[in-house]
Amino acid sequence: MLEVKDINVSYGKVQVLWDLSFNVGRGEIVTILGSNGAGKTTTVKTVTGLLHPSSGSIRFLDENIEKLPPYAIVKKGMTLVPEGMASFPRMSVIENLLIGAYTQGDNVDDTLERVYQIFPKLRERGKQQAGTLSGGEQRMLAIGKALMSKPGLLILDEPSLGLAPNLVLTIFDVIQKLREEKVTVLLVEQNVHHALEISDRGYVLEKGRMILDGKSSDLLKDGFVKKSYLGI
Ligand SMILES: Nc1ncnc2c1ncn2[C@@H]1O[C@H](COP(=O)(O)OP(=O)(O)OP(=O)(O)O)[C@@H](O)[C@H]1O
Ligand SMILES: [Mg+2]
Repeated sequence: MLEVKDINVSYGKVQVLWDLSFNVGRGEIVTILGSNGAGKTTTVKTVTGLLHPSSGSIRFLDENIEKLPPYAIVKKGMTLVPEGMASFPRMSVIENLLIGAYTQGDNVDDTLERVYQIFPKLRERGKQQAGTLSGGEQRMLAIGKALMSKPGLLILDEPSLGLAPNLVLTIFDVIQKLREEKVTVLLVEQNVHHALEISDRGYVLEKGRMILDGKSSDLLKDGFVKKSYLGI
């Protein structure tokens, strides 16, 4: 579904990603692991058109997208849930959700119902200003808003960051359930154990280069991953 090949990405003169390649197949959950500053957010920003590579290619559904702007990529069915606050704080929960569906035309009721079923909290809080939601509720809203666009590929940048342990489990549970909804997921996480447990494959990014990849079950047993990311 997504094939990233040898991309190089810089901020001005500072190169951050080096000959980076990875791919995500339809229906897979794929994790990118890496420590702070490794280049994970830069990677997802490049894939979603917020940044452009100086060289290399990005193919999505058999089309080159590395030169396209973000809105054109969203239209093709790829949606990013960025790090941190991802909603319009002064608008209500329901307004935020409906904005998420702007590529969908009129028929949004079923999608909204589906999002409410995944996150009942959002139904309860429908009229509340997004900016006054708790951190966990805001994270649910960000994911719910992304689901409103009915993405084929959902990209999540550290969805569990800063959440209490029980909410972390809820978020990972939701991600796993997306599998049944046929949503393909690219997950960026520092919560390595949980991320590998729910994903099919993983890549390890260090200093802008992919240094390791494999089946998630194998990475969980990998000596380097255990030592560097799982603290074992
Ligand atoms: N706008 C920018 N201008 C210059 N350098 C940047 C910019 N954004 C990120 N960087 C640098 O690029 C490198 C990779 O940053 P990136 O945000 O992709 O890392 P990350 O893996 O997402 O880290 P984290 O886990 O902390 O979110 C870092 O060294 C960072 O300082
Ligand atoms: Mg980041």
